[in-house]
Amino acid sequence: MRTKIVAGNWKMNLTLTESKQLVNKLKFSSNSENIRVLIIPPYTNLDGLKRLLDAQNSNIEIGSQNLHHLNSGAYTGEISGQMLKDIGIHIVLVGHSERRTLFNECQEVVFQKSSSALNQNFEIIYCFGEQLSERIEGIHFNVIKNQLEHLINKIDLKYWESKQIVLAYEPVWAIGTGQTATSEQAQEMHHHIRHLIQQSLGVQIANQTSILYGGSVKPSNAKELFQQPDVDGGLIGGASLDATSFNSIIKSLITQ
Ligand code: PGA
Repeated sequence: MRTKIVAGNWKMNLTLTESKQLVNKLKFSSNSENIRVLIIPPYTNLDGLKRLLDAQNSNIEIGSQNLHHLNSGAYTGEISGQMLKDIGIHIVLVGHSERRTLFNECQEVVFQKSSSALNQNFEIIYCFGEQLSERIEGIHFNVIKNQLEHLINKIDLKYWESKQIVLAYEPVWAIGTGQTATSEQAQEMHHHIRHLIQQSLGVQIANQTSILYGGSVKPSNAKELFQQPDVDGGLIGGASLDATSFNSIIKSLITQ
């Protein structure tokens, strides 16, 4: 059985005080190791929220939105994996479309970060997705194949085997726009992704790898998306900033 995950990507939102208020309102308990809930707040909130979750004995996990691929050095404004691990963070998002487009992270940089994080024993949530123009042109399946190429061909198989790689398909045209991919579009692409993994890494890896959908997931569409056979949960932006919405999305995952 594949692990189902709902992860809230808070982006550059919420002060530590506001974050704690939100966390105190989140409801998640599960006896199953196959259902996970994560929050991914800004750097400044990581340590405080990690301590809060630990004190509450919470099942909610916490990850970082980014990292630098090196351990230390003259890189003003950057944060290393070593620093994250020191405060107990072992999950990191890489390749989010906002990092790719607004902060010029090209495929090579995303690969460097992924590879460095995995070598440091992080679990990565690897984000990728096509632009609207690419979908209109009909090249979206190829774009996705290219975005996954390095990960599939250059990363040691052991990281796939240990399930340290979670994929998050996020069509760029659906992020923060309110325009969700239909459940059919999501399923079609997730199936394509699983097939690509199967072709190169075999059926077992393909079947065990969680593939999340992201892009305007909200309480009203979460259940239908999560019910798709190849959709193993969601990466949630805007709707994860509100406790009622996020709790409702978590419930959709648990009860589907
Ligand atoms: P959204 O963001 O849910 O606000 O569309 C998703 C994401 O960027 O991960």
